[in-house]
Amino acid sequence: MPYMIEHMTPVTENQIVTLVDNFYAKVRRDDVLAPIFERAIAPDSWPVHLAKMYDFWSGVMLTSGRYKGNPMAVHMRVEGLEAGMFARWLTLFRATAEELFPPDLAASFREKSERIAESFKLGLFYRPGGLNIAPLSPT
Ligand code: HEM
Repeated sequence: MPYMIEHMTPVTENQIVTLVDNFYAKVRRDDVLAPIFERAIAPDSWPVHLAKMYDFWSGVMLTSGRYKGNPMAVHMRVEGLEAGMFARWLTLFRATAEELFPPDLAASFREKSERIAESFKLGLFYRPGGLNIAPLSPT
């Protein structure tokens, strides 16, 4: 065969729900991330947050267009969020995907999460030609 076209394992909506539920369960047990999320999300608002995250990842992976939001603006208002926390977030996300999914699918989630985290970090913390202090408060 001159070449082979490889097909990635397709993800299902159910798998997205499982990934999101397992990931945020880890986040809520994490020494660094838990306090940030617990401050921002009231106990009875978790189902709302998780539902948003199902929509978000469905949009990213399946281009379902279900998520309608502005995550950059939301993260600008997250109290205590620091640039260094993204590495921790990404490690937990990657570990969750690798626990649950075949390697090709886990790698696809990982790539997307890293790309999105990079753009969030740039948007939230990078100031051209200046000090990297942030987030700037919207004035
Ligand atoms: C250090 C890393 C991060 C922290 C601490 C963090 C924290 C949070 C918190 C506390 C919220 C809820 C805010 C609220 O409802 O008031 C939130 C929402 C959200 N986060 Fe993150 N986040 C991080 C990274 C990421 C990354 C890398 C992604 C995507 C790959 C992401 C996607 C989202 C989305 C889609 C929402 C919902 C926004 C909306 O309300 O429409 N976050 N995050």
